[in-house]
Amino acid sequence: MSEIKWKINRLISSVSLEQEYWGGKMKYEPSWVFTIEENELQENHVNMVFPKGLPVLLIKKAGKIYAVSSKCAHMACALAGGTLKDYIIKCPCHDWRFDIRTGEFLDAREIKLPVYEWKSSDGKIFVKI
Ligand code: FES
Repeated sequence: MSEIKWKINRLISSVSLEQEYWGGKMKYEPSWVFTIEENELQENHVNMVFPKGLPVLLIKKAGKIYAVSSKCAHMACALAGGTLKDYIIKCPCHDWRFDIRTGEFLDAREIKLPVYEWKSSDGKIFVKI
C-alpha cells in the first residue's frame, strides 16, 4: 500500500515539476535575428527565411516589408508554396487566404498567423523572434 502511495506521490511531483518548467517559470525573450541582405529581397516576391529555424516569409510590397509565419494556421502547410496577390497569400493546400499585413485569415479574422517585427540595419534585414 505504501509503495503505491509513494508511486502516486512521485507521479504527482513530476507532473508539477513539468508544470513549473513549462508553465511560466522559464521566460522566452525574443531577439533580433539576421535573415537576409536587403538587396536580395525582390518586390512582390515571397522570400523564405528561417530565423531560429522557424519558417518566416519576408514579402516586400510597395517598398514596405512584411514578416509573417509561413506555417498555415489551418494544418501547417507551407505558405511559401502559396500564391501571392496584392496583400493576400493563399495556402497551396486548402486555399485559406491570409492578409500578410496583419496575418489575419480572411474568413475568420480572429484566426491569425504570427507576424513579426523586422528592422533594417546596414543593409541587413533582422526579424524579432
Ligand atoms: S493547411 Fe493551409 S489551408 Fe489547409
